[in-house]
Amino acid sequence: MKILVVGPGAVGCLFAARFRKAGYDATLLDYRPERADRINREGIFIEGILGDYRVEVPVITPEAPSRPDLALICVKANQTRQAAEQIADWLPAEGRVLTLQNGLGNFEVLQDVFGPERVLGGITAEGATVLGPGRIRHAGRGDTVIGPDPGRDETIEQIAEAFRQAGFAIRTAERVDQLIWGKLIVNAGINALTALLRVKNGRLPELPTVSRLMDDLVREATAVAAARGITLPYPDPIGRVMEVCRATADNIASMLQDVLKERPTEIAHINGAIVTEGERCGVSTPINRALTWLVQGLENSYAERVPDPKTSPGDRTGAG
Ligand code: PAF
Repeated sequence: MKILVVGPGAVGCLFAARFRKAGYDATLLDYRPERADRINREGIFIEGILGDYRVEVPVITPEAPSRPDLALICVKANQTRQAAEQIADWLPAEGRVLTLQNGLGNFEVLQDVFGPERVLGGITAEGATVLGPGRIRHAGRGDTVIGPDPGRDETIEQIAEAFRQAGFAIRTAERVDQLIWGKLIVNAGINALTALLRVKNGRLPELPTVSRLMDDLVREATAVAAARGITLPYPDPIGRVMEVCRATADNIASMLQDVLKERPTEIAHINGAIVTEGERCGVSTPINRALTWLVQGLENSYAERVPDPKTSPGDRTGAG
């Protein structure tokens, strides 16, 4: 099976390297030629829970098409349409596209570009952090679930087998919307709080006022899911979010990674999506709205951070 991994972020590098290591014809697509060159020359370095290793992975730029059987989309949610349109002509008629991205809307955008029958969706609980171009820390392991699996679908079975061979715990499920909403609620409870507070996931439940906010975020998001008729894949949403915080205690959540690099975040596709969906079905979501606006305020003021006197000794504002 020929696999194209689109996007050389933490999760993209992890999957591309492990597919390649398992003997699959896996290629990475990067829109930045200098970074693509570097990864081509140096390979992907992974450190973390499965040891430290380097894998040579061919990297192509959008000018060099390939004919993949599977395109795995690993770009940020706000780049999904652009990435999909870029590879739309590369995918053979029987090829499949799979999204394991965070947030709401990716699955629908891909269905729009490729047609519903070619798109698979799902979630992954693998935790990875970018250390540099093509260098990542594989911080935590977790299940990957893909669908829709109507049962006895050979293609989805082959795709699941590729993940298994690459060392991932994977299963298939019938309902992609349930998976995506299940993960969305986890991200809505964790990501914006870590980005605003600059703490690792494990710290959130330990800070009493923060865990109350987390409760409110999750309650609102769960009410929206219920109003949309979504059955979540777990019975206790708050318990689930706490559990993920503990299981990924040492992770720097993806939104905090974006904020630390002063990049746009996925807030509009996570807490912002809860607000939009809430408006559609008449559920009020004030805490999700406040966090969305705060993270957007942060993004819009990256260049204006007041310097920290501890790290900028020249600053003499005399405040105090
Ligand atoms: O976005 C992330 O970082 C991850 O989805 C999660 C589950 C919050 C763990 O860090």
